Amino acid sequence: MPRSIFIGESFFCSPPTRNPPHENFRLPIGINCLHAVAMSDTAVTIAGTGSYVPEKILTNAELEKRIETSDEWITTRTGIKERRIAADDEFTSHMATKAGLRALEQAHLAPEDVELIIVATITPDTLTPATACYVQENIGARRAIAFDISAACSGFLYAMEIARKLIAGGTVHNALIIGAEKLSAFVNWNDRGTCILFGDGAGAAVLRKSQPGEGHILAMDLGTDGSLTHLLNIPGGGSARPITAENADEHLATLAMLGKEVFKHAVNRMKSAAETVITRAGLQAEDIACVIPHQANLRIIDAIADRLSVPNEKVFVNLHKYGNTSAAAVAIALDEAHRSGAFKRGDNIVLVVFGAGLTWAAAAIEW
Ligand code: UT7
Repeated sequence: MPRSIFIGESFFCSPPTRNPPHENFRLPIGINCLHAVAMSDTAVTIAGTGSYVPEKILTNAELEKRIETSDEWITTRTGIKERRIAADDEFTSHMATKAGLRALEQAHLAPEDVELIIVATITPDTLTPATACYVQENIGARRAIAFDISAACSGFLYAMEIARKLIAGGTVHNALIIGAEKLSAFVNWNDRGTCILFGDGAGAAVLRKSQPGEGHILAMDLGTDGSLTHLLNIPGGGSARPITAENADEHLATLAMLGKEVFKHAVNRMKSAAETVITRAGLQAEDIACVIPHQANLRIIDAIADRLSVPNEKVFVNLHKYGNTSAAAVAIALDEAHRSGAFKRGDNIVLVVFGAGLTWAAAAIEW
């Protein structure tokens, strides 16, 4: 059975123009609005973003020379024109480090003051230790707790919610969250159904407690449906099906996907997750300045924008440049949208993602 998690809001007292908070949230009897405002000390803001993509560009035209495909098919079915491919000696941790340093610089946070690093990835440098440990060493964040999470394309928002709760609860004062992937190392380059979709890159954000006058994360929604693991996975290379001399030719350690099924679930789950956070934040669709969705397929993005009644010009898209970079996709898009001025301080934005698991998540943020 699908499971959705509701985790309490940090915004308790809606201004008059907003809808009431989500019905699941109830102020305890005897607690009035002033108390609730005081509790918003635990509000968490995004203080900086950063991203990095490798130099090498792989265009649709180049793929036409390698496999039976066409720029026309890829463009009309996905919206992707090109993707970035990491060098052989460029690992997930290297990309994560570069994106992370850019986010720290924008947040004016010194690496030695970082208290938590979470890397969301399905393409870690090594099965153990975590890629976050390499990042900690690379940036010199000696005080930071560092670990990875695996939630596929939803990983960056899962990391955001974990970091938000650890900051709000007082465990740490700040967090560097990173979505980073070297998917090119886990793609079967002979499978035209998948290899045209994916690319490499990393995106990052710095979270800390919100100061007076700053925006904050208004609401989040996370969900998982483990009955659908077969729709999108990397079947081999784990303890269930290790790669051996006997199965080495079967491409078991590469991405396998039932695209049409995934497509259908992606639209439904992202639509409902986005609606959930918009409602929990006390907003209406017209209050949203920018929607930043997972960058997997332009047709999925258009379908969600349509169902949410958000005009296309408010929906940030960069998948034509990078393809699907899984956990990195929404993080890179957030950074590019932020740096390009797609939204400004005080604007409400919505991030929404979907991936293997199946997993999905959304965040409503006042910037
Ligand atoms: O990040 C996690 C979430 N992932 C997603 O959201 C991905 C969701 N799925 C999709 O984006 C789409 O399903 C795909 C882009 C993967 C595929 O698009 P589709 O419209 O579902 O195509 P299809 O797989 O049904 O294939 C249609 C036809 C088939 O040929 P026939 O059987 O109709 O003769 C395929 O063999 O297109 C063929 N085809 C290709 N043709 C040219 C499949 N891949 C290619 C290709 N080039 N690269």
